[in-house]
Amino acid sequence: MVLAACSRPRRLWCCQMSPDAPCYDGRGKTVLVSGGTSGINRGIARAFAASGAQLFVLSRSVEKVADTVAELQSLGSHAAGATADVRRADEIDAAFAACADRFGAIDVLVSGAAGNFPARAKDISSNGFRAVLEIDVLGTHHVMLAGYKHLRRPGVIINISAAASFRPMVGQAHVCAAKAGVDQITRTLALEWGPEGIRVNSVLPGPIEDTEGFRRLAPTPEMKERRLANVPLRRAATSAEVGDLCLFLASDRASYITGAVIPIDGGASLSLPADLLEDALG
Ligand code: COA
Ligand code: NAP
Repeated sequence: MVLAACSRPRRLWCCQMSPDAPCYDGRGKTVLVSGGTSGINRGIARAFAASGAQLFVLSRSVEKVADTVAELQSLGSHAAGATADVRRADEIDAAFAACADRFGAIDVLVSGAAGNFPARAKDISSNGFRAVLEIDVLGTHHVMLAGYKHLRRPGVIINISAAASFRPMVGQAHVCAAKAGVDQITRTLALEWGPEGIRVNSVLPGPIEDTEGFRRLAPTPEMKERRLANVPLRRAATSAEVGDLCLFLASDRASYITGAVIPIDGGASLSLPADLLEDALG
């Protein structure tokens, strides 16, 4: 299902990093965010909308897509969206075609859909492991292939990963495997597509306020407090801070950065105890 774009005038460009040092001018640019209808990815979509870009978001829930499109439009962005499950190549192709019909080529592609639940490996069924692998790894592949067809050259791809890609963690065998896969896709495609002018990088958020991922990994106030006590900067970040990093990566100021795996986690990946989830696992 495709949701129509609005024809409201866009807000003038602004940059979240500093009014004196613009990092990304989104005017005339198209940004597609897969899984862009909640949490961190929605914050990234908001940041690009504020930069003047037109936005296309996709995810499974028609309500979440409609709500996000309405919010981005209220920020003055031309915005549209479609429902699609990243596990389904046909649905992803159709969503990207709808984006192309509406906005033409894509300038920036953010791939952020993911699945996570805390469970010891012995308690993860074949289907549970497959669900996370298929959303994160196969889903990223589907989004990358569709993106390759529709990305302008030069173009920018940002994959949303996690420190689990390189830090093992009790209760996260499926996610550690999946996010390692995502980062290896980033590095491999940076090699394959660099000569065509496509930069591909991974962004690895740490604990981010008001997000499903953080709630699943720290479901009680006590666990949240303990988690943040292990972060060198002693706080969670906001999705707007992740948005700022993505604006930078999309900008010409990042013109020589590709194949990079960049944590934005207040140092959490340096100090995270591997058994942090023990209490949540029982
Ligand atoms: N512990 C163990 N197994 C679990 C589980 C948990 N907490 N939650 C789900 N599963 C298992 C299910 O039992 C099922 O396996 P089974 O068929 O052998 O019983 C399997 O995972 C798939 O679950 P289902 O709900 O059918 O899959 P789905 O495709 O609808 O959803 C998930 C995928 C499970 C990843 C779901 O949590 C999701 O949609 N997540 C997206 C949002 C998210 O995770 N946000 C955080 C991102 S960091
Ligand atoms: P979230 O709010 O649950 O966002 C996940 C998004 O992906 C939603 O828009 C969801 O929408 C969509 N989605 C899920 N499965 C999908 C599928 N199969 N097909 C299409 N869309 C799908 O999670 P979040 O916590 O903000 O996390 C966002 C990203 O940051 C993820 O990649 C996550 O791994 C990463 N991350 C988060 C944290 C954190 O603290 N939150 C830390 C490290 C990394 P629908 O339900 O409509 O499909």
